[in-house]
Formats: sequence, C-alpha cells, structure tokens
Amino acid sequence: MLLAATGCGDPAPELVGAQPDGWDDEIRLREAVDEDPDPDVVEIHLTAKLAELELLAGKKTPVWTYDGAIPGPLIHVKKGDHLIVHFTNDLPEETTVHWHGIRVPNGMDGVPGTSAPAIPPGGTFDYEFDLPDAGLYWYHPHFDSAAQVGNGLYGAILVDDPDEPKDLGDEVVLVLSDIHIDDATGGLEPPDTSGELGSIFGREGNHILVNGKMRPTLRATAGLRQRWRVVDAAKSRYFQLELAEHDFTVIGADGGFASRPAELPRLLLTPGQRADVLVTPNGEPGTALVVRWIPFDRGYGTADFRSTEDVFEIALAPDVRGASPPMPSIARDIEPLSLAGATPVEIRLTQGMDANGKTFLGINDKPFPEADPVDAAVGETQIWTLKNEMDWAHPFHLHGFFFQVLDDPEPLAWRDTVNVPQQETRRIAVRYDDRPGMWMFHCHILDHADMGMMGMLMLHEP
Ligand code: C2O
Ligand code: CU
Repeated sequence: MLLAATGCGDPAPELVGAQPDGWDDEIRLREAVDEDPDPDVVEIHLTAKLAELELLAGKKTPVWTYDGAIPGPLIHVKKGDHLIVHFTNDLPEETTVHWHGIRVPNGMDGVPGTSAPAIPPGGTFDYEFDLPDAGLYWYHPHFDSAAQVGNGLYGAILVDDPDEPKDLGDEVVLVLSDIHIDDATGGLEPPDTSGELGSIFGREGNHILVNGKMRPTLRATAGLRQRWRVVDAAKSRYFQLELAEHDFTVIGADGGFASRPAELPRLLLTPGQRADVLVTPNGEPGTALVVRWIPFDRGYGTADFRSTEDVFEIALAPDVRGASPPMPSIARDIEPLSLAGATPVEIRLTQGMDANGKTFLGINDKPFPEADPVDAAVGETQIWTLKNEMDWAHPFHLHGFFFQVLDDPEPLAWRDTVNVPQQETRRIAVRYDDRPGMWMFHCHILDHADMGMMGMLMLHEP
C-alpha cells in the first residue's frame, strides 16, 4: 500500500493492522442476551416500554424504546439459527413487532389484522422463526407506525454467514435515524405536527441519530478498511451520505451480498433499506473526518433551504497508519429471475381526496384497506410495475419476499425496498416461495403508509 510522505524530520508513522483500542466503543450497539445454550437457537426477551433519555445534553426526552434504549438491542444471530423472542408490550397502546426483510412464516410477520393480532398494553407474544438468509435486517412496530417508530421503536438484526470471506474489515452496525425534539424543553414533537401537509411531506426529525447518538465519534486507523452495516430506520428521512475524498465500496443490499461490489461517491438509503459497505478512512493520522448527510430531493420542497448535516465523526489515531489485508473476492452468483410467463401486476402510487375533502394516499387510487389485494400463487413469478403518480418519491417495501429491480444498472441484488422517484416508474420481479397468507406492501415513509399507501398481497397455494 501507498504511504503518504511525512514531513522532513517527522518519524514515519508506525504501520499497524488493527483499529485503535476501543475504536467503536462510543457507538457499538448493546446485543440482546441469548438465554438458550443451544448454539443454533437464540432466545431473548424484548420489552417495548417508555423511557426518558438524555439525547440532548441536560434535557430529558420521553421516548418509546425496546428495552429502555434507542435503538433497541442488536439481535446477533447466524444464518440457519432459530430465533425465539419473548416479547412484552409495556407501552400505553397496542403494538406489534415486524421483522423487516426476514422471510418469516406469515403468522410471525407482526401485521395486525392480517398475520397476527395487535398486542395490547401489558400483553405478551412469542415470535419464533428461522433465519434463512444472511444480511442486516431490522425490527419495528407495525401499529401506529409513524408515531411509534418516530418515537424510537426500532432495532437491528445481524445475520452472519459463517462461510463468508474473512478479512472484509472491522465491522460495525450503524442504525441511522432521526428524532424530532423541542430543543428548549427536550420534549418530543407530536407525530401530527403540521397536519396533512406534514404527512404528505413525510416528517423528518430535527436531529440525526447514529445508534441513538447525535454526531458520535468512531475511531479509526488511517488506511485500514472498515465494514459498515447500515440501516435507515428513520420514519421519512432518506440518508444520502458522503465522506469527502472517499468512495464507498458497496458490497451488499437488503438481502445480503450483491453480485459484485460497486464503488460509489455517495451512499443513498431510503427508509427501510440496508447497505453493506467497505470504507477505508484515509487522511493524516491524528486528524478527523466527518460523514455528512447531503440533502436529497425526494420530491416537491423536500430539499429546499436545507444544508448538509454532520452524521458522525471519524477520528484517525495519531502516529499510525494501517495496512489492510488484500480485498477478498466477494462475487455472488445471483440468477436473474426468469421472466418467461411472469404475471404482470400494475401498482400505481396515488393521491386522492375523499368525500369529506380529506387527502389520502393510496394504491391504485384507493386508500388502505380498500384496494383489491394482489392475487398470487406459491411458485408464481410476477413483475410489478410501480408507477409513482405523485410529486413525492416513495420507498416501496414488500413484506416477506425479496425482489429484483429490473432495468437497474447497479449490480444485481436481492431487495425488499426500492425507491420509486416522483413521477417515475420502477419494475420489480418477485418469485413466491411456499409461505401462503396475506402479506403487506407499502410506502416506507411511514406518514405515507398511515395516510393509506399500503396494500395487500394474497398468496395462496396453486
Ligand atoms: Cu419495515 Cu411494513 O415494514
Ligand atoms: Cu411514500
């Protein structure tokens, strides 16, 4: 590797192969405690409850949490494990837990009214399923979602693949989100601020959080590769990230590795999406770099009068430089889905007005749950044409099944959430495995989902 020239008389920095001691201490997520001795079973307790957290120095913010923290504990498992979650609802309203992206049995999907009943205050539910796919996933409520997620209910699930190449880099999970706090009092902004207009825009918080912290510091050894597993858990905010003079090597998306790595100057995640990214922080040892949020135009007015925001800082250890192990090959064989005989499905993302003059968002001009369900059979392949007829972008999410985005110049990847820009169309291909039942799809700007942009897939035996 190339070493930067050092000034005359300066000692050459020592060459090391490790991150600084405690490099991720400030942001490393707490992990849920596995109570089961079986190495292939992970059994945990998880409680949704109110808490007061000091997010702003000297101010208490009343938030909604899993196990008393934002985000909830990292559930760390490996591919093929069996997960049991003994869940308790200590919130003042009903809730559920949805396991975003995981191919769970229908009854474990956490959608009230379709897959399982909502859990009342004081109630419990045991979620139990296998983890068939490696990757980063996340969990969040599917009841009163914009408010509950916006108040702090979300957490990450990392499914390791024991067979993946070693030496990809030192790994850290980054749960990106935001929260809207009244800076004077520390109080939470009500979830219905600015009424209908706020909902149509999709409410963003006024503070970005990385693993629940504002502008935290990650330490690094200059020149030594790191692996960031990133999820956008915000209720509306797109994260477009930039690290000046650095590229991101994106090696995976929602459902594990992509077919090949891609070098990108910016990383874009919509709410719900994940990325697996290699970054080699470089610079003068002892200096700091800043990962910045860049305004992204997700529709009318959403990028106006906004400037960049700091997301987190990378402090480069003094006096040392890193020597990264050679980059392992991470090509993955992803077969493009065969489209011969695939059934076309048309999904229009629409806006309308009801008889009382109230604006709603919908699927094919109907607010949830009025639209006809999409009908499908186990084993069938469908091509969904997602036509966004609105002036705002929608991150479209399908429960239960991965899809491939067609006409996508990016490396092939399995996804469960795709951005459909304002007034544009995206096509996705999905093949249904044998998990019949009612599955949801919706916009993952949760204000939009709550305004009616949700629909149902009815999957039946052939
Ligand atoms: Cu994160 Cu209905 O989904
Ligand atoms: Cu939307």
